[in-house]
Amino acid sequence: MVKNKIQCAVFISGRGSNLKSIFKYSKKKSSKINLKLVISDKSDAKGIQFAKKNKIINKVVSYKNRIMAEKIIMNFLLKNEIKYIFLAGFMKILSKNIVKKFKNKIINIHPSLLPKYKGFNTHERAILNGEKFSGCTVHFVNYKLDSGKTILQKRIKILKNDTPKTLAKRILKIENKLYPMAIDKIFSKI
Ligand code: GRF
Repeated sequence: MVKNKIQCAVFISGRGSNLKSIFKYSKKKSSKINLKLVISDKSDAKGIQFAKKNKIINKVVSYKNRIMAEKIIMNFLLKNEIKYIFLAGFMKILSKNIVKKFKNKIINIHPSLLPKYKGFNTHERAILNGEKFSGCTVHFVNYKLDSGKTILQKRIKILKNDTPKTLAKRILKIENKLYPMAIDKIFSKI
């Protein structure tokens, strides 16, 4: 029953392919999570359409004023009894306040082999530096950007002709598999 599952939220800013894969995973019988809430800082995020279509509670929160935005977000999280937050392409940095309230309960996916290439333009930087491998990492969120404990990481080869675009595309496919696997790993221990 959905009620007995762990209530979770996904935060997005755009396309939402990881949101889709988490949603698909949540529908599995063996999954311990219920995806109850989607939050976006962008009203035109494609993922919001997906949430609406699938009847997931969704909320667009403007970040013009970050303090206000986080107040609204916190209210929504509490109101919906959210226990875990999955960041999936959410382009805003959460304040210490939220990270503290959800200690070890916020998870993120990053398209690089962390601790390498934190932040933006990961694929471009990896290619420019002549790296042989890249990949993606699912990790817990702490107070420092892209620095929390790794849950799962997957490595792939950078091909000779790779551009940031082709590499991003290949890695995204892996991300979409790795995120549910990492969630499964977290909850198999609970
Ligand atoms: C992914 O590459 C993720 O690693 C990064 O932003 C992208 C989001 O993609 N943080 P999507 O919106 O889940 O398709």
